[in-house]
Amino acid sequence: MEFRHLGRSGLMISEIAYGNWITHGSQVEEEAAAACVRAALDVGITTFDTADVYAGTRAEEVLGRALHGQRREGLEILTKVYWPTGPGPNDRGLSRKHIMESIAGSLRRLQTDYVDVYQAHRYDYSTPLEETMQAFADIVHSGKALYIGVSEWKAAEIRAGVELAKELKFQLVSNQPQYSMLWRVIEAEVVPTCEELGLGQVVFSPIAQGVLTGKYLPGQPPPAGSRATDESGAGFIQRLLADDVLTTVQRLKPLAEQAGLSMAQLAVAWVLHNPNVSAAIVGASRPEQVYDNAKASGVKLDADLLKAIDEILDPIAERDPAHTASPARRP
Ligand SMILES: NC(=O)c1ccc[n+]([C@@H]2O[C@H](COP(=O)([O-])OP(=O)(O)OC[C@H]3O[C@@H](n4cnc5c(N)ncnc54)[C@H](OP(=O)(O)O)[C@@H]3O)[C@@H](O)[C@H]2O)c1
Repeated sequence: MEFRHLGRSGLMISEIAYGNWITHGSQVEEEAAAACVRAALDVGITTFDTADVYAGTRAEEVLGRALHGQRREGLEILTKVYWPTGPGPNDRGLSRKHIMESIAGSLRRLQTDYVDVYQAHRYDYSTPLEETMQAFADIVHSGKALYIGVSEWKAAEIRAGVELAKELKFQLVSNQPQYSMLWRVIEAEVVPTCEELGLGQVVFSPIAQGVLTGKYLPGQPPPAGSRATDESGAGFIQRLLADDVLTTVQRLKPLAEQAGLSMAQLAVAWVLHNPNVSAAIVGASRPEQVYDNAKASGVKLDADLLKAIDEILDPIAERDPAHTASPARRP
């Protein structure tokens, strides 16, 4: 496993991180979840990403149990705050009240005294940015988080956040956007801004939730046990299952074979090719997937291969920066 700096910070993270959205506390049983975490540790993954909202807070509990007993200094644990974790108007968003209550719950569920990176899971237009950043500053200064990150913030929002973080003397080091061969919306604005300001991308859904493995075939029902057949996952993957997308993705298979890579490895290596990417967070419903995906670490894709991928995917790859967005109102 190779490691990269998280943005311009001193923190090193494994360039492949393991995330537990949809899976832990939901799609997969506790034993399978623990087996995936063991596989991640086995291949040298040290960076784990979760969120308070995943599986209604159960995902953090499952990860906390699975990592219990590991040397804390050998792990980087990332979690997030913003999406609803309860029924009340203050159980969501980035108000001081919710941030303070949410970090307390996350630390309890994760069985740790601090998280390495605490991330704003979207931008909250109902809270002054100054209030959010002051709460993050207090969390860092009290030692409950070491660094702060954001997720899916627009370039201008990141710039405003960095200015306040500097004033308040904490480090805003990362952004967590969706990024894959099919979803390139950060390239035009978010990446250049983050390069300038020293933030790294910790990208999610690098395999497009499984679609870039090529296992979903056009005109055929999804494979049994896949995210597309899961109650909690199906709604999220649906937009990627259009026939033109699946047909085009099949055309990547000979390229992956020629490069000696599985389709999943090609997808992960592709996001890691972007130097502003600090890590690719992969999900997995079973340990074999972790072993497959982790082999993408250290893989270099040559210029001809990258060009051939661009030519195939150009008609379907989304690049419009307007797709980087947070809900206009708190959910
Ligand atoms: N910040 C945010 O808003 C946000 C949003 C989404 C995700 N995330 C983070 O990013 C992480 C990864 O997201 P993701 O799960 O969508 O990423 P992904 O790596 O693109 O997709 C993971 C899913 O694809 C399938 N898969 C993975 N490797 C495979 C392989 N080698 N062969 C066959 N199938 C394979 C598995 O699903 P099946 O086996 O069920 O088909 C797996 O659960 C999340 O856990 C979370 O930490 C963050």
